[in-house]
Amino acid sequence: MSHTRPLRFVRRGKTVTLEGIAPDRTLLEVLREDLGCTGTKEGCGEGDCGACTVVLGSERDGAVQYQAINSCIRLAHSIDGMALWTSEDLASDPMIRPVDRHSSPDLHPAQQAMVDCHGSQCGFCTPGFVMSLFGMYQNHVCKGAAITREVAVEELSGNLCRCTGYRPILDAAQHMGTLPRMQVDERNLLAQLSALKHAAHAAAEPGSGYMAPDTLDELLAARAAHPDALIAAGTTDVGLWITKMHRQYAQILDVTRARELRKVEVSATRIRIGAAVTLTDAFHALEQHWPQLHRFASRFAGMPVRNSGTLGGNVANGSPIGDSMPLLIALGAGITLASTRGERSMPIEDFYVGYRKNLLAQGELLTAIDVPMPSPHQTLAAYKISKRFDDDISAVCLALNLDIENGIVTRARIGAGGVAATPARARGTEAVLIGRPWSEALATEAGKTLQAEFNPISDMRASSAYRREVLGALLRRFWLEHSGETAVRPALHTLQPMEVPT
Ligand SMILES: Cc1cc2nc3c(=O)[nH]c(=O)nc-3n(C[C@H](O)[C@H](O)[C@H](O)COP(=O)(O)OP(=O)(O)OC[C@H]3O[C@@H](n4cnc5c(N)ncnc54)[C@H](O)[C@@H]3O)c2cc1C
Ligand code: FES
Ligand code: FES
Repeated sequence: MSHTRPLRFVRRGKTVTLEGIAPDRTLLEVLREDLGCTGTKEGCGEGDCGACTVVLGSERDGAVQYQAINSCIRLAHSIDGMALWTSEDLASDPMIRPVDRHSSPDLHPAQQAMVDCHGSQCGFCTPGFVMSLFGMYQNHVCKGAAITREVAVEELSGNLCRCTGYRPILDAAQHMGTLPRMQVDERNLLAQLSALKHAAHAAAEPGSGYMAPDTLDELLAARAAHPDALIAAGTTDVGLWITKMHRQYAQILDVTRARELRKVEVSATRIRIGAAVTLTDAFHALEQHWPQLHRFASRFAGMPVRNSGTLGGNVANGSPIGDSMPLLIALGAGITLASTRGERSMPIEDFYVGYRKNLLAQGELLTAIDVPMPSPHQTLAAYKISKRFDDDISAVCLALNLDIENGIVTRARIGAGGVAATPARARGTEAVLIGRPWSEALATEAGKTLQAEFNPISDMRASSAYRREVLGALLRRFWLEHSGETAVRPALHTLQPMEVPT
C-alpha cells in the first residue's frame, strides 16, 4: 500500500492527527472504527438515509463555511485541514458557546429543538437529523436569517426516514431560532484552520497514496505521473464503488483542492464553473440567472450529497440518468478538458460516445463547464420525473430552452436524460420547433416527435412506454406553463407548523 500523509482536522477545539489512514477509507469508518465515535451511524452506506450526516467547517473568503455531508461516502483524507462536528460534539465542543455568557444550556439548540418539538426518532436517524439541523443553524440562524418552512424542507432532504413523521422535525428546524443563541468561536477556529493549512502544504507529497494538489499545474502533473490513480472529486459516485462494490484503491488523486477548479467566474457572455465546484455552489451560480431552476436544483439528490458532489463529477461520470447534463445540453454549455499536453473544449453533448464512455484521453481531466448567458428571448425549464420527490434518481429528465421572438420559435435546444445510453440532445424535436409559431398544435407535434426520437429502455425506475409517455407529457406541460397556465403546485411546503409549548 502507498504511504499516505497524516490526516489532520480540528475537532472540539483541538487538532486531531491520524497516521496511516488508507486512501480509500471513508470518514465514517475512521470515526466509528478508529476513533470509537459510534454516535454517527451507518444506515444505508450510500448517501441516501442521512444517518451518517456530519458537518464540516472550512475557510472561505475569510469566514467559516459549514456543510452538512454524508460521512459514509466521503473519503477521510478529503477533510484534511477542515473542522469536523459530529452529533457527539455539539454539547461538548468548547468552541461552541452561548452568546449570553450567563446562560449555560445543556444542549445545542439543534438538539433542544428536537426535544421540545418531539422530533427525535430512532437512535439511527436522530443523530443525522440533528447534524443537518446544526448545519442549518449555522447557515441561517447564526447569520441572522429566519428558517422558513421551505428552507427546512429543502435542507432536510438528505435525511430520509421519518418514522415519527415529518412535521415535528420541520417544527424543530424553525424552533431552533427561538432558543438562546449559541455560536462557534470562528476567530479561533479560523486561526486553527490557517495553521493546519500551512502544515498540510509542508507535508504535501506528490506520489503519496492520497494526492490533493493545490493548483491545476500540479494536478495535471500528478495525473500524468500516476495514470492509474483513481480520480476523485466529491466521491458521491466513487464512494459507492467502495462501500457497495467493495473496490479498493491504492492511490487516489483528489481534484477538489486545485484552486482553478473551485472557481465560478462570471463574464458578460458566460458563467465558467470549475469542475470541482460543488453542486450546491454550481446551482446557486446558475440560479442567479435562471431563478426558475431552484426547484429542479433542490431535487438533485439531497443537500448533503450536493454539498460534497461536484458539477464536474456529474459530467465526467456521464450517467444516462444524471440530472445536470440534460440541463447543460439545453443551456448550450461547453466543457474544457486539460492535460500536461494542453487544453481542448467541446459542446457537452459531444463528450459522450457511448454508455458511460466519454472522450477523456489518457492524462486528461475535466477542468471547467462554460454556460452562455441567457438570451433576451429565452424560455427555459427543466423537469425531473422520479418516484420520490426528495433524494431520488430521475426516471426521465427533460430540459427545454427556446427563444421565442414575436411568437416564433427562433432557436431551440433540448436535453434529455433517462431515454438513451448517454445524456442526449433532441435534435429532431428542435428541428420541428425552429422557425414556426409557438402554439398548442406545435407543442403537440413536437411532443410526438420527442416520443419517437428516443428508444428508452425499461428498468426498475420506469418502463420504456412510461418514459415515452412522460416525454410527450412534459412538452405539453412546458406549453401550459409558458402560455399562462400553471401545471405544478408544491405539496410539502403547505404543511402548517404546529404550536410548540414553551
Ligand atoms: C444518495 C445519492 C443521490 C444522488 N442523486 C443524484 C441525482 O438526483 N441526480 C444525479 O445526476 N446524480 C445523483 N447522484 C450521483 C452523484 O451525486 C453525482 O453524479 C455527482 O455529481 C458526482 O460528483 P462527485 O464530485 O461526487 O464525483 P465523484 O464520485 O468523485 O466522481 C465521479 C466520476 O467522475 C470522475 N471525475 C470526477 N471529477 C473529475 C474531473 N474533474 N475530471 C475527470 N474525471 C472526474 C471520477 O473519476 C468518477 O469516475 C446521487 C448520488 C447519491 C449518493
Ligand atoms: S449511512 Fe445512509 S447516508 Fe450515510
Ligand atoms: S428508521 Fe429511524 S426513524 Fe425510521
